[in-house]
Amino acid sequence: MTDLKFTRADFPKDFTFGTATSAYQIEGSRFGGCGPSHWDTFAATRGNVERGEDGAIACDHYHRWEEDLDLIRDAGLDAYRFSMNWARVMPDGVTPNPDGLDYYDKLVDGMLTRGIRPFATLYHWDLPSALADKGGWTNRDVAGWFADYTETIMGRIGDRVEATATINEPWCVAWLSHFEGAHAPGHRDIRAAARAMHHVLLAHGTAVEAMRAMGLQNLGIVTNLEGSDPIDDRPETLAAHARNHAIYNEWFLGGVFKGAYPQAALEGLEAHLPVGWQDDFPTIQAKVDWLGINFYTRKNVKNIGGQWPQVGFVDGPLEKTSFDWEIQPDRLRQFITWAAKEYSGDLPIYITENGMAGHDYLLDGQCQDDQRIKYLRDHFAAAKQAMAEGAPLAGYFIWSLLDNYEWAAGYEKRFGMVHVDFDTLVRTPKASWHALKDSLNG
Ligand code: NOJ
Repeated sequence: MTDLKFTRADFPKDFTFGTATSAYQIEGSRFGGCGPSHWDTFAATRGNVERGEDGAIACDHYHRWEEDLDLIRDAGLDAYRFSMNWARVMPDGVTPNPDGLDYYDKLVDGMLTRGIRPFATLYHWDLPSALADKGGWTNRDVAGWFADYTETIMGRIGDRVEATATINEPWCVAWLSHFEGAHAPGHRDIRAAARAMHHVLLAHGTAVEAMRAMGLQNLGIVTNLEGSDPIDDRPETLAAHARNHAIYNEWFLGGVFKGAYPQAALEGLEAHLPVGWQDDFPTIQAKVDWLGINFYTRKNVKNIGGQWPQVGFVDGPLEKTSFDWEIQPDRLRQFITWAAKEYSGDLPIYITENGMAGHDYLLDGQCQDDQRIKYLRDHFAAAKQAMAEGAPLAGYFIWSLLDNYEWAAGYEKRFGMVHVDFDTLVRTPKASWHALKDSLNG
C-alpha cells in the first residue's frame, strides 16, 4: 500500500492541496523573545501533559523553517496553513515584539518565494500568560485583546497571506480547556466554560470586523467537527448524544452562521452565559468568506447520569489510529455536506486539517507509514464524493507536515508526513510524503 490512488486530474483545476501545522507545536517557544503562554504553564504543572513535555523546543522550526518550507515545496503542495504565536507577537499580551513580527514576515516571504500560498491562523491556542492572568477566555475583554493582536500581526503580513482564519477549533479553546480541563488552562468549571464558549466567538467576530476595517479579505474560522453516535436508542442515550453533538458541532456553526445557539446546549449553559449574550450575535455573525473543517474521528456516546450534560464515551469497533481514534472516512463526506446545507451554503469549505497519528518509526532510515497512506487515500476519496454531491469544497490541508507537539499527549503521537527525531531534530520524509508527492506530480 504505497499509493494514494488519486492525481490532480481527479480534482478541479483550482483545488488547493496543502498541509498544516501550528506555531506552538513546531516552532520552539523558547526562542526569539517569545513570551510565556498558558500552554507553557499548563505543561509545567504535574499531571497535565504526558511526561511533562512542553513546546519549548518542539521541532525547532523557528530556526529550521527554510528546510521545512522546502519540504512543502518539494512535495508539490500548493499551500501551507500555519499559525502565528500570539505570545511571540506580543510577549506580554499587548506590546509588539519586533523579532516576532520580523519572523512571521520572513516566513511568509519564504512561502511566496517557493510558490507556496500562505493560509494564516491567528489563534492556535498560545494565549499569552499575562492575559491568562486576567481570566483569558473567561474575560469578555479577550475580544478586544484579540482584535489588537490581529491588527498588529495582520498589519505586518496581511498584504501577503491568501486567507486568514481567526480561531482554530473553538470547541477545544472553550469546552475541552474550560469544562474538561484537558487543555490549557485546565479549568473544570461550567461557568468558565460557558463564558469561553461565547467569548471565543465574540473574539472571532471582533477580529473579522477589525480585519474588514483594514481592507482584508478571505477571512474564515476553523471548526473541528467530530462524529457522535449513540450506543443505543434509549431516550436517555439519545438525549446525551444530542447534547454532545450540540456542544461540539452545532454551537459554533450556529453562532457564526445563524446567530443562535442550539437548545440542547443552552439547556445546561444558558444560566452561566454572560448577561446580554444575545446582543453579541451581530458581531459573532460578521460575514466570513469561507469555512474550515478539521476532521479526525467519531465517538460513541453513552449517558453516564449525574450532572448535565451526562455525556460519556465507549470504545468503538472500527479500525483505530495510535491515538485509539476510530477511522471513519465517510463521516468526512457527511460533515462537509451537512455543514454546507445547514450553515455555510455556497461559501467555499476547506478541510483545514485531516490526518492521523501512527506507530511510526525509522527502519534503515525509512518510515513506512502505510496506515497513514490508506487513511489519506480513503479521506481524499470521501472529500471527492462530497464534491460529486455538490459540496463547495475548495481545498484539503493534511495534518501535519511534521511530527510535532501533540498537546497533552506530548511528542509520542506522531501525525507528520515527515518524521522528526526529537533528539537530533533531523527530518525524514515518510512513505506518505513520497506518496503524496507522486500523486501531486504524477
Ligand atoms: C487539531 C488541532 O488543531 C491540532 O493542533 C492537533 O494537533 C490535531 N487536531 C491532532 O490532534
